[in-house]
Amino acid sequence: MSVTVRSFAKINLGLYIGAARADGYHDLRTVYQTIALHDVIRVSVGRGRGIEIVCTNKDPRVPLDASNTCHRIAARVLDELGAKGKVTVEIEKRLPVQGGLGAASSNAVATMIALELALKKKLTPAARLRIAADVGSDLPLFLVGGTALGVGRGEEVYPLPDLPSLAMVVVTPEVGVSTPRAFADWDAQERLTRLSASDRLFEVGCVLSSWLSGFTSGSPNTGAPAKGGSRGEKLLLDLVRTGIENDFEKVVFSQYPELRDMKAALERAGSKYASLSGSGSTVYGLFRSPAEAAKAAGRLRKQGLRAVATRTLTRSWYWASLVVRR
Ligand code: C5P
Repeated sequence: MSVTVRSFAKINLGLYIGAARADGYHDLRTVYQTIALHDVIRVSVGRGRGIEIVCTNKDPRVPLDASNTCHRIAARVLDELGAKGKVTVEIEKRLPVQGGLGAASSNAVATMIALELALKKKLTPAARLRIAADVGSDLPLFLVGGTALGVGRGEEVYPLPDLPSLAMVVVTPEVGVSTPRAFADWDAQERLTRLSASDRLFEVGCVLSSWLSGFTSGSPNTGAPAKGGSRGEKLLLDLVRTGIENDFEKVVFSQYPELRDMKAALERAGSKYASLSGSGSTVYGLFRSPAEAAKAAGRLRKQGLRAVATRTLTRSWYWASLVVRR
């Protein structure tokens, strides 16, 4: 039995880093948003034992051993369900590695969902979230999809009223950024002297909350791409007005100045809101319409950048398009 699923990427709409914790992680606040770009994961269960990871397009950056997030989660799922068999996880890599789009985390959650379907056995929703959080901070968001608030070390996620689907451009540089290194660089900068880390996160909570309040007013979200003058555009402008930003830009841009240039290029190409995603290296820009995003992506490609026009993915859209074949 084999099951094929899309493993969608995410972006962060603002990301604030708090204090380093005793367990080595950092408290943070972020708004996660799933997007339509994706890898493809195929999980098969046959006779025998063991877990095999295959990268169908032979991307050398994808580990094929037990360190792969798909391997780690498959082992946990088999254990939790008391299931046996030979599990093969095939990864068709399209998303960047170390790109800040949550690809490895999303691959793992896609593996969990596909493996449950292949085994015809179900984990409880709470077990799914627990296992996902154990494997990595960025996994649970993919069990929610759409627009979600991330707190704690990012693993504690709460679904938010969905943003309408927004047109966007994703720019993926050649370089990858290590997330643990970016957190360490943040600590080294000691930027938290003016406000204590917890006061700062509270301040940020107030800003996020005021922006999110705008979500709940207006017409219901159909999942269709937002058009100019629409509710999507209003929320986008509200987002710009709040000044929501990604703390990682403060450490990553000084190390990789070309990423700052890419953000500026997105803004020059008409993006209403541009930002680094997670710890990077991906930079994205939100646009008023799919036509504007397509035009901007073309312009950026002419400048030699790897730019692709896509859209954000609402929760209902995310779940409806996850499973490809079973
Ligand atoms: O949770 P995950 O395994 O993806 O985290 C990778 C590393 O990133 C952690 O070991 C830690 O060094 C850093 N991290 C952090 N604070 C977070 C999330 C990750 O310091 N909130």
